[in-house]
Amino acid sequence: MTALLLEERGRRGVRLAFADRGPGIADVDLALTDGWTSGTGMGLGLSGSKRLVDDFVLDTTPGAGTTVTVTKWGR
Ligand SMILES: Nc1ncnc2c1ncn2[C@@H]1O[C@H](COP(=O)(O)OP(=O)(O)OP(=O)(O)O)[C@@H](O)[C@H]1O
Ligand SMILES: [Mg+2]
Repeated sequence: MTALLLEERGRRGVRLAFADRGPGIADVDLALTDGWTSGTGMGLGLSGSKRLVDDFVLDTTPGAGTTVTVTKWGR
């Protein structure tokens, strides 16, 4: 995980990037569907994270890994 503090036009924010070298995600739209899980989770990790932040980028290569980068600005 990498963390970055941001300051832009008087606003402060934080950017977090989570990277793994796992199986990757073949169908990103499906993975982002509320309640959909390939395992025993709630299927809310990705979609819920996306809702909570201001910017959400999912970069994945099947067979190689996944990086999720989220940015949240202060109020
Ligand atoms: N880093 C990842 N690498 C590979 N597949 C992933 C990854 N993150 C999510 N997925 C796939 O997308 C699906 C949905 O992910 P999501 O995080 O929304 O739910 P979950 O992990 O199944 O449950 P939880 O609600 O506990 O997070 C997962 O079930 C899995 O198939
Ligand atoms: Mg999850």
